[in-house]
Amino acid sequence: MADILISATSIVLLVLFFGTINGMRPKLPSDKGQDESDDGICKSMVEPQNYVCEEHTVTTGDGYILSLQRIPVGRSGGTSVDRPPVLLQHGLMMDGSTWMLLPPEKSLAFLLVDNGFDVWIANSRGTKYSRGHVSLSPDDAAYWEWSWDELVAYDLPAMFQHIHGATGQKFHYVGHSLGTLIALAAFSKQELFGMLRSAALLSPIAYVNQISSPLAKSAADIFLGEQLYWLGLHEFEPKGEAVGKLLNDFCNQPGINCSNLMNIMTGPNCCINSSTMNVFLEHEPQATATKNMIHLAQMIRMGTVAMYDYGNEDDNMSHYGQSTPPAYNMTSIPNDFPLYLSYGGKDALSDVKDVQVLLNCLKDHNGDKLVVQYRDDYAHADFVFGFNAHEVIYDPLMAFFRLH
Ligand SMILES: *[C@@H]1O[C@H](CO)[C@@H](O)[C@H](O)[C@H]1NC(C)=O
Ligand SMILES: *[C@@H]1O[C@H](CO)[C@@H](O)[C@H](O)[C@H]1NC(C)=O
Ligand SMILES: *[C@@H]1O[C@H](CO)[C@@H](O)[C@H](O)[C@H]1NC(C)=O
Repeated sequence: MADILISATSIVLLVLFFGTINGMRPKLPSDKGQDESDDGICKSMVEPQNYVCEEHTVTTGDGYILSLQRIPVGRSGGTSVDRPPVLLQHGLMMDGSTWMLLPPEKSLAFLLVDNGFDVWIANSRGTKYSRGHVSLSPDDAAYWEWSWDELVAYDLPAMFQHIHGATGQKFHYVGHSLGTLIALAAFSKQELFGMLRSAALLSPIAYVNQISSPLAKSAADIFLGEQLYWLGLHEFEPKGEAVGKLLNDFCNQPGINCSNLMNIMTGPNCCINSSTMNVFLEHEPQATATKNMIHLAQMIRMGTVAMYDYGNEDDNMSHYGQSTPPAYNMTSIPNDFPLYLSYGGKDALSDVKDVQVLLNCLKDHNGDKLVVQYRDDYAHADFVFGFNAHEVIYDPLMAFFRLH
């Protein structure tokens, strides 16, 4: 029964997620008249669960205006004094609501605050509540002129400085998926440690050339093969027509069965039930820059963790002062920085073989500063929406934070 529900939901996901396939778009409860969530994440997702919530904004060095939510105290009240802050950084095509899709006793954001932490929720540039800019609009091509290099160079430092300034404390970091890559990249440049106590990386992404997701691999080939066309779109809008066509072409290949698109993309998630999927669809997926997708496609093809490749020596030279894009050196992450890594045996984006390459870079890490957790049954999305993640992932994660 649960299987049937999940696969029925996935057909809805397929159509809705990517919008215009065959011109179909089912009417869902969330489609009614006004969109309540336009008030922001505090109003739409946090306050209805009876938590205090503060909306913050941060302006990055390159002009993007990002929203951050803070849940300073648990449902039982109290003060935010002596609560270690934690920043939650979502992954690709997600936003801050990712951490609140399950009921409070199962969602990481609420679980942390009810366990004595001061919770901060990041929303990367281009997502629904972080589309402001001091001079550009998302309708301008220039607004989308970035890849995850800029999340490392601008978004993370701006949010980190804001949280550090507001709390006067060092904090913990939790990243999922792309949220792990940008942290690892910053750490490899010896940046941000001064404000951090530790980091927990769920579904870690660094090396991705052994990725097993057929959809991600196929998309990477298409992005690189038709790079000029894709870059011309600037905004990568998952519900837009171009992505709908890409998906339609992908799903019509022999041997490809798109009845469960979430699983085709992220691996066979063990532990996501249909009610969670419906909540997910009300909030995600979110837009990103096409340039960001091309950058990830380059990594899938090249097997490197390096900055965006402009594709010819002259352009690389003018951006970087060298003919090849500078690498992020994962072996230079300091050995004494406390890291908690959790990865899954069924994850099609954070493939076990790729995680082994990353772990090999961390082989000299101090034994008492590195915890590696492996869940055989988990795929990519289980780490954030799994109905048992609170027991199998978040409890040990919070125990790790308490030690650091
Ligand atoms: C695709 O997979 C679903 C669920 O596993 C199955 O019910 C369906 O028959 C498959 N379709 C094809 C064309 O193989
Ligand atoms: C699915 O999740 C909801 C919300 O956590 C829960 O109430 C329900 O019992 C779950 N269903 C199954 C089949 O696990
Ligand atoms: C990466 O960093 C390590 C440790 O700092 C260093 O030994 C190694 O030479 C670096 N590799 C490259 C390619 O720069």
